[in-house]
Amino acid sequence: MNRRDFINRSLLTLGFLTFGSLIKDTTMAYDMNGITDKTQKKMKRIIIIDGGPRRNMNTTQMLQKFAEGAQSAGNYIEVRTIRLYDIDYKCCMSCMACKLKGRVSNVCRYKDDLTQILEDISQADGLVLGSPIYFGEVTGQMRAFMERLSFPWLSYNDYSMTAPKRMPVVLIETMNGLPERNNSNGFGSMEYCITAALGQPQHIVAYNTCQVKDYSRYELAGFSEEAKHQWRDAHWEEDLQKAFDAGRKMASSKEE
Ligand SMILES: Cc1cc2nc3c(=O)[nH]c(=O)nc-3n(C[C@H](O)[C@H](O)[C@H](O)COP(=O)(O)O)c2cc1C
Repeated sequence: MNRRDFINRSLLTLGFLTFGSLIKDTTMAYDMNGITDKTQKKMKRIIIIDGGPRRNMNTTQMLQKFAEGAQSAGNYIEVRTIRLYDIDYKCCMSCMACKLKGRVSNVCRYKDDLTQILEDISQADGLVLGSPIYFGEVTGQMRAFMERLSFPWLSYNDYSMTAPKRMPVVLIETMNGLPERNNSNGFGSMEYCITAALGQPQHIVAYNTCQVKDYSRYELAGFSEEAKHQWRDAHWEEDLQKAFDAGRKMASSKEE
């Protein structure tokens, strides 16, 4: 090959590569901005609600694994995580705006940081709620969130529970308790609302979590650090795998 052929071929190859990357970029931009891409495949939207205050601890790690599992199912999955402790919102304020005659709404209209999130959940394709167990229940932030989510579903005319859209739901709890000895009431009475309005949820529980990284720094004599670490070595990877598998399953599920 002489020098001119070499230059021509190089330019041609460069042209193909540039054109190729342009096509790819256009498709990507279209994916990001719209619901469908050129193949008209629908984007699946999953919303994860993290009801724990601590970043990078047990609950958040479980939820991150769930997100990884969902994303591993393909390119058409949008997973969004909302950390309740990072936003500013109230519990149900009993404003009754959702029950006004002629303006009944099954999405909460009270204006704060939750308003748009609740609207987005109403149109999502899957919902995940994760919380540590505090005094036998989910955290106060999670409870407040669930009041705002559920009260507009409830009709005081016939006591039915109706969400704008049914969707798969996964409930994740982490706690100190053991499978055979725990005080968790989990999502409690709110679970009834979720089941009635969205569908039967799947449960994942991580028991006997390590509450701190270094037990020797705290007054925690009620726990054996050795037993905690033994349990963690035996179960934590399995717990994370359950979260990953649930994410993949939710993202892969066919719509009802
Ligand atoms: C205020 C508070 C109350 C708790 N109450 C319980 C409880 O009732 N039952 C239980 O099993 N664990 C209880 N725990 C332990 C946490 O549920 C457990 O460590 C959890 O995995 C922490 O999640 P995180 O690591 O994501 O913060 C409590 C922890 C705190 C801080």
